[in-house]
Amino acid sequence: MDWLAGAYLWIVAAHVIFVIFWMAGLFMLPRYLVYHQEALVAGRDGEAAEWVVREGKIRSIILTPAMIVVWVLGLTLATVGQHWGEGWLHAKLLLVLALSGYHGWAVGYAKRLAKGVMRLDGRRLRMLNEVPALLATVIVVLVFVKPF
Ligand code: HEM
Repeated sequence: MDWLAGAYLWIVAAHVIFVIFWMAGLFMLPRYLVYHQEALVAGRDGEAAEWVVREGKIRSIILTPAMIVVWVLGLTLATVGQHWGEGWLHAKLLLVLALSGYHGWAVGYAKRLAKGVMRLDGRRLRMLNEVPALLATVIVVLVFVKPF
């Protein structure tokens, strides 16, 4: 465990780098969903098919790998840094679970759009785009301010 404690700052750096990748994907995919749905509504089938390909790539190249690495490094930091008893971490974990749920929802919505199913109107879909920014804001405050 000693070598892990010595590498703590490197693990924090790697954690934050992969958080950036994950968040980039979580900002991009919901935007893709809006454009994809607009193409479907307008009957632009060729364009809709291109969005299916882009959504698949962003999921397999950025979103899923980044989420896994963030979780693994985050849980490692919590253990090596002995943060498990701290309230801010419990609150953060709850919000990161919500972020992971949002990730799953967006991927599921992309798969439904690929089959031509549109569950939400454009306005709702746009509003849901803001969820990752809101969750990330609170998570970063929790990590740096550690209010409890
Ligand atoms: C997946 C579950 C996650 C766990 C278990 C976790 C846990 C941790 C822990 C224990 C630390 C070290 C805190 C310290 O030493 O003071 C840390 C650092 C950090 N985490 Fe996470 N984290 C997770 C996901 C995230 C996410 C999703 C974000 C942002 C949206 C995030 C942003 C940060 C930042 C910015 C730091 C650096 C804070 C510093 O400079 O010490 N983490 N994380």
